[in-house]
Amino acid sequence: PRKIIIDTDPGQDDAVAILLALASPEALEVLGITAVAGNVPLALTQKNARIICELAGKADVKVFAGCDAPLHRKLVTAEHVHGKTGLDGPQLAAPTMPLQAQHAVDFIIDTLRREPAHTVTLCPLGPLTNIATAFLRAPDIIARVQQIVLMGGAYFEVGNITPAAEFNIYVDPEAADIVFKSGVPLVVMPLDVTHKALTTRARIEAFRALGTEPGRMVAEWTDFFERFDMQKYGSEGAPLHDPCVIAYLLRPDLFTGRHINVEIETQSPLTLGMTVADWWGVTKRPANALFIGGIDADGFFELLIERVGRL
Ligand code: BDR
Ligand code: CA
Repeated sequence: PRKIIIDTDPGQDDAVAILLALASPEALEVLGITAVAGNVPLALTQKNARIICELAGKADVKVFAGCDAPLHRKLVTAEHVHGKTGLDGPQLAAPTMPLQAQHAVDFIIDTLRREPAHTVTLCPLGPLTNIATAFLRAPDIIARVQQIVLMGGAYFEVGNITPAAEFNIYVDPEAADIVFKSGVPLVVMPLDVTHKALTTRARIEAFRALGTEPGRMVAEWTDFFERFDMQKYGSEGAPLHDPCVIAYLLRPDLFTGRHINVEIETQSPLTLGMTVADWWGVTKRPANALFIGGIDADGFFELLIERVGRL
């Protein structure tokens, strides 16, 4: 199995991504889950990560708490999307599994130094603060990363937190800039693709029809999530952003994209956190990312439903 570290700010869609990974042990070995401040503050994201592991029946997964604020800015959260707890929707009991004592950034550094080079993939599902902090503190690990597959950014779809920026990049643009300039091979899941991974009544009911606790939770989370997005976009359903990252590792054939140059705006108050994506190749800047734009949404949901059904 491919070794991954999931860096996350759960978040209902983060939760579904984590369940998908934990349900796929034949393909993915989750070395650890590192929590970061994002959708809600760190105290909640680390707790939510443990709730999700227990829901998956995997209380032995190592969960670490990382950075509680962006590199240089005040934390912006998204309770308006995810609710006060970050996992609003179903009733959830407090987790009993422990939080690891080690800081998430130290875990990322130690793991990349310990494992053979190019065997660990990072999967960021929130602001890039933990990853950038690890790269700043231990530049030797950068060349050892196999790949970074992340959810963040937007091009044709532009922003969801400002007109120009997607939430994960906007919250910590300086961290994103470090990651996008790191030279690590990047696969980016922007809003352009996640807004094609939409829940529908039938898809939500298929989770519920699994008749399991994880199935019911996913249905209730997506129900909650959908309420916000339907009001906002008037679309068919809610975008399941973060599961696209894990689905890509399991089934890259479900996705299409282009190798392009992507840079991050860190200065302009108007477009802060924008992923300036050279989709049409108008600059001579070398490609630094596989920027995904297309998805087989039916195949994606079939995969999700089948895997959640395993738990
Ligand atoms: C991203 O922001 C968060 O609200 C979601 O969990 C996802 O990672 C989408 O912009
Ligand atoms: Ca997230």
